[in-house]
Amino acid sequence: MTGFWADGDLSPNLIEQARIERSRQGGYLDLTSSNPTAQGLLFPPALLREAADGYWAKRLYQPDPHGQPAARRAIQGYYATRSPVLRLDLNAIFITASTSEAYSLLFALLCAPGDNVLGPHVTYPLFEYLAAVHHIELRPYQLDETRGWAVDETSVRAAADARTRAVLLISPHNPTGMIIQQPLAVLNQLALPVICDEVFAPFTYRADQTPPLGALHPAVPVFHLNGISKLFALPDLKLGWIALSGGAAEQYGERLELLNDTFLGSNSLTQHMLPQLFEHGLAFVQSMRDRVAQNIDWALQELADHAEIEARPPDGGYYLFLRLRSWSHEEALVLYLIEHGVLTHPGFFYGDVPGVHLMVSALTEPTTWRAGITQLSGALRA
Ligand SMILES: Cc1ncc(COP(=O)(O)O)c(C=O)c1O
Repeated sequence: MTGFWADGDLSPNLIEQARIERSRQGGYLDLTSSNPTAQGLLFPPALLREAADGYWAKRLYQPDPHGQPAARRAIQGYYATRSPVLRLDLNAIFITASTSEAYSLLFALLCAPGDNVLGPHVTYPLFEYLAAVHHIELRPYQLDETRGWAVDETSVRAAADARTRAVLLISPHNPTGMIIQQPLAVLNQLALPVICDEVFAPFTYRADQTPPLGALHPAVPVFHLNGISKLFALPDLKLGWIALSGGAAEQYGERLELLNDTFLGSNSLTQHMLPQLFEHGLAFVQSMRDRVAQNIDWALQELADHAEIEARPPDGGYYLFLRLRSWSHEEALVLYLIEHGVLTHPGFFYGDVPGVHLMVSALTEPTTWRAGITQLSGALRA
């Protein structure tokens, strides 16, 4: 067979098999959820109804390959409130169906089959599939755990070759939480376009803010990817965007317009709602930030003197990427924890890095979070 993932093994792995088995036998505490709607974090329904209200009576399909101007003005306004501020031209914003779709458009825009994009190692396991769709290679550069998972600039330089078309940065990074707070010299040196995924931007913990990368690098063409799936906990309403800075709009805008026009993936209703989501949704965003920060506070305190688990405060994001001191096998560890009634993700789901790691999601509903962390801690003390 040929085509997408034709040689891939799609059968459930041992962890998934054990999870299914355990759910038949009394269940488990799930510390892996990234789904806000399953964790009691529901954007206020009344605000959603109100934001959608005006749409129905005046429905008129007026597709715009950039996205509706009012929605783009709201996005432009959002970047004007970021710190440092990023000033964007309205024509430098493209609305898409999701951040994942935005990636796909950018890989098509920047790459030919056989080209490569540099991406962080470890990373959220989405990009390898998107790269496969476009027949490109995702070449890893390293993050340095000893420096809070900072980008290892030497490894970025070493990974680049004549077929490298872009550098992908994720800030706040999933799952380590690392936030890029200072310019990276290597980006100025490589002179490549940068794709910066900032879907976790509002979730800061140790860092004061998530600087938009274009504000740190005004002379580098940057494509900022973001959307409402994390920002407003609305993954089901399907809206993302690409915001171009540093000359990217001038260089790539016309072709990106044609690409986005080819799909027109973002639905008009959600675009119509967007200005009101920004206008009235910020108190809800704050409540999510508080939930995540309080969960992280609690876990760091609970695990502070643990002989086996090393938990460091992240810059941001909503995960903890825990390091285990004496276990040597991640799969065995996760299977052992499932037996003890708690579900975590092994580090290898995010790539092959030295050491043994577990991912837990601080988006989890607080009672489950506390019970799960207590159970995890107890099982690993035993
Ligand atoms: C770093 C990162 N980027 C992008 C996405 C996908 O976002 P969207 O729902 O907008 O496609 C995710 C999903 O979890 C993510 O973790």
